[in-house]
Amino acid sequence: MVSWKSILAMRIDIITCLPELFEGPMNQSIVKRAQKKGLVELYIHDLRPFTSNKQKSIDDYAYGGGAGMVMMIEPIDRCISALKKHTDYDEIIFMTPDGEKLNQSTCNQLSLNKNIILLCGHYKGIDQRVRDHLITREISIGDYVLSGGELAAMIVADSLIRLIPGVLNDESSALTDSFQDDLLAPPVYTRPAIYNGWKVPKILLSGNKAVINDWRHEAAVKKTKERRPHLLN
Ligand code: ADE
Repeated sequence: MVSWKSILAMRIDIITCLPELFEGPMNQSIVKRAQKKGLVELYIHDLRPFTSNKQKSIDDYAYGGGAGMVMMIEPIDRCISALKKHTDYDEIIFMTPDGEKLNQSTCNQLSLNKNIILLCGHYKGIDQRVRDHLITREISIGDYVLSGGELAAMIVADSLIRLIPGVLNDESSALTDSFQDDLLAPPVYTRPAIYNGWKVPKILLSGNKAVINDWRHEAAVKKTKERRPHLLN
């Protein structure tokens, strides 16, 4: 019998030359729980064993000269080919600052995939033939340059994993996140109702769900107008 878990579960393979970077962030909290529940299978692959040269190098000088080393195509191709032997991938994504910029709607869309590969770049760049022939999509987490694609891959993985049904205890909380309805999330409060003389808005203590929902919606619109007005257009 096919279990509901195997239908919902997602497989994420991350290719990197710095596998140790993932040990902490990918083994805590929600991401750890999702793996334990069998809702996500996360595999981190070290690129270096896929080199065939004696020095085990994965980068080389750029043709035509210039500063910075370039990641070689061969180890990446060998690693991706090895993975493809036993898994069909919906997307093979290269993390790069010049890719399409990540937003919530891209996360939602990517979370519908079954199997994806995230490839982390490093050094000055990656042989263009990898981008032309081996990958299906390029994603940036913002207009700034990180020292490698690892942190960006973790951000993508985290943002997808929390969207997998069953990962969050209260499933509605992913739907009320900022950006899910093109609105930033309204402010939230918890006990005590007064701290240092700073009060929680009275409406939130009223117990009237409809009034509270209206207040939250208005607060979300106000915040969005102030901070991300383009979302309202
Ligand atoms: N690698 C380096 N900088 C990056 C960025 N901003 N987004 C994705 N990958 C990157």
